Amino acid sequence: MITLAIPKGRLLEKLAPRLRGVGFSDDALDERDRRLLRSNRDESARLLLLKPDDVPTYVEHGAADAGVVGRDVLLERNANVFVPHDLGIGRCRLAVAAPVGQRDARREGRVLRVATKYPTITTAHFAAKGEEVEVIYLGGSVEIAPLVGLADCIVDIVETGETLRQNGLEVIETVCDVSAVTVANRVSMKLQRAALQALLDALSTEPR
Ligand code: PRP
Repeated sequence: MITLAIPKGRLLEKLAPRLRGVGFSDDALDERDRRLLRSNRDESARLLLLKPDDVPTYVEHGAADAGVVGRDVLLERNANVFVPHDLGIGRCRLAVAAPVGQRDARREGRVLRVATKYPTITTAHFAAKGEEVEVIYLGGSVEIAPLVGLADCIVDIVETGETLRQNGLEVIETVCDVSAVTVANRVSMKLQRAALQALLDALSTEPR
């Protein structure tokens, strides 16, 4: 049986048709269900439903053979996993955003304060531009930080742009494009190559 680490939430909704295609029933994909471990019909695969940030950890350590995760999480966690496919779903971007009209937020000679759930990516992004910044880690609802003076700007996911718009923020620059990718444990990829490859290929195919 192959174990797949799958993120709960937005990506699961987009992934559901592909998981149905590899034998998972609607019941197995029902998010209201509290079971965190679900099998497909012929028990050839099971899902671990996880917080998105935890998917690379399960796969890197071999507790899951493979999984699906946003490229943002993969880059942030810098996990040692194999990345066979870009699924082309969950497309969005990581961007720097600031309150409208305040794109030159560097004030009074102090360093720019950047709030984010992505401290590794943010540090690397500004370092590559030779800019010194203070990175403030937050777990979510990052858009609030500049509104209450915790930070000058943010680095966060922008999908439709609606969250930025409703909070009076605008994109200053794109950090990177993001979409969902498959990830595989390097040992599983050797020991279960045929079965794992077949499952990941099926997941990477747009259902008809
Ligand atoms: C994500 C992200 C943004 C929002 C972007 O938040 O962090 O806040 O979605 O989407 P939009 O451009 O379509 O508005 P999520 O809902 O995952 O919650 P979080 O703030 O707790 O990270």
